[in-house]
Amino acid sequence: RRFVSTTNEHKNMGTLKKQLEKLFEVSLKETVPDVVDVEPLVAACAGNNNAMSLWSKIKGKDTRFKGPQPVGQTIMKNLPQSEMIESCSVAGPGFVNIVLSKKWMAKCIQKMLVDGIGTWAPSIQVKRAVVDFSSPNIAKEMHVGHLRSTIIGDTIARMLEFSNVEVLRRNHVGDWGTQFGMLIQYLFEETPNWEEAGESAISDLQAFYRASKAKFDEDPAFKARAQQAVVRLQGGESQFRTAWARICEISRREFQVIYQRLGIVLEEKGESFYNPYIPRVLAMLNDQGLIEESEGARVIKIEGHNIPLIVVKSDGGYNYASTDLAALWYRLNEEKADWIIYVTDVSQQQHFDMAAKRAGWLPSQANLYPKTSHVPFGLVCGEDGKRFKTRSGDVVRLVELLDEAKSRCKAALVERGKDAEWTADELEQTAEAVGYSAVKYADLKNNRQTNYIFSFDQMLNDKGNTAVYLLYAHARICSIIRKSGEDIEALKQTGEIVLDHDDERALGLHLLQFAEVVEEALTNLLPSTLCEYLYNLSEYFTKFYSNCQVVGSAEQTSRLLLCEATAVVMRKCFHLLGMIPVYKI
Ligand code: ARG
Repeated sequence: RRFVSTTNEHKNMGTLKKQLEKLFEVSLKETVPDVVDVEPLVAACAGNNNAMSLWSKIKGKDTRFKGPQPVGQTIMKNLPQSEMIESCSVAGPGFVNIVLSKKWMAKCIQKMLVDGIGTWAPSIQVKRAVVDFSSPNIAKEMHVGHLRSTIIGDTIARMLEFSNVEVLRRNHVGDWGTQFGMLIQYLFEETPNWEEAGESAISDLQAFYRASKAKFDEDPAFKARAQQAVVRLQGGESQFRTAWARICEISRREFQVIYQRLGIVLEEKGESFYNPYIPRVLAMLNDQGLIEESEGARVIKIEGHNIPLIVVKSDGGYNYASTDLAALWYRLNEEKADWIIYVTDVSQQQHFDMAAKRAGWLPSQANLYPKTSHVPFGLVCGEDGKRFKTRSGDVVRLVELLDEAKSRCKAALVERGKDAEWTADELEQTAEAVGYSAVKYADLKNNRQTNYIFSFDQMLNDKGNTAVYLLYAHARICSIIRKSGEDIEALKQTGEIVLDHDDERALGLHLLQFAEVVEEALTNLLPSTLCEYLYNLSEYFTKFYSNCQVVGSAEQTSRLLLCEATAVVMRKCFHLLGMIPVYKI
């Protein structure tokens, strides 16, 4: 059993919050040595909130204190000397406010510039994670729901990788369902010479799927033959396997086009991969007495659910749930993952997690590893607020969506005369970077649980909380640095950051909260947290830049370094969100 995983070891500085917690831990031990188990309560904006709850614990017992306020005073007094702290005060009923030292903040930022943003990675308690995302179904259209899963899952994987977790990016494609009986039978009947005909027999996979589905629904005799075909495929008959493999291959190639365009890396381990493991896994669960007979099917009863989890259908076949149980077993035992994350739409409640808890594969307490997390997301809607469709009512083809994002961006650049200023390549690359980033950011910036409205006009607006605005903000910072004529790499080593102006300080503090935000986004599996941080960063920068002259000022060196630090953190955010930065506009 590996219920406890060890913390990764890095030379990173840890979050601001953790560093403050360490100081308060020391003080609390000193202040109330008799009270065990006090966790330091540090708020994000540098303060401590232990006094109130402590007071209710020690009231009447510890006569040194007359109320929560003095407890706070003592906590403050007992804080160890630290270069982090400039001053502190106690507010209200014992809240300890900390003013961070400007010098210390400046030093941290400078150190990051020299040692790299990797030193600001959060460290989380996980060694190896499986992120199960994208996962479209073979032969069916990869629809906008899969686009959401792809974008959200990729970001989660990127944040984990940044936090030094080994990530197994898994594409759990639907390549083993009953639809294959229908597809294969249709292929055999419509194109008897399919083996020689090669791929021309199925040039348009979606059309092929629709036609075979129509026949399946209309013709009961065909339906029966199709069901027979599934049995023969799953029995391993070679002709059926060959046809199956061919259909999968064509589909795979289409998915790959999308992944390539979006810069998504993931490894296919589809449903069929886990099929050989199902009998063993079910036998194990059966030995534990977890599997029961119900109306001809084999089921696992789940506490608190009226409907049991079917693991063997009444016809003896396996299903989506049995595959997922086998996959979970494999991920825990063969791949030794301690965090398994599923990114699917809200409708897919993860019943098999609960089955796994019953079997003792997973600890029942939510804060222990290994654990599984389901990352549900809402619908993509059209501007009419209804499920996103084309004008003719078809599902929206992702390739066309990306094409349009790119061509709209290109048109906007041409309108601003960039075609005369830039090479054709630069124009093309910028349009692509901005267009695809816009599609991703528009999805990620919403709380993923809510439905969101897909609107090119909104996502490609260069004002407001959009990728276009943010990418341009970054490009503008880069151009400030370029125009100064200074060698920024040299300045990192020799220059010094000073945070005297209020707006410099505010920007600096926000930069320092980066690690904390990534950690929070990961804990809650909410990429929107990072988007919000990024947008606020650009706001802090704007305020700083409008009130603090950079080029030509006495503080030029420090302020250029602050510009650079902002650009570095922005680029890391872009990277984590799967966006591509641009350097000039
Ligand atoms: N293929 C499924 C779908 O399109 C998603 C698979 C999610 N992953 C899993 N392990 N069940 O809805």
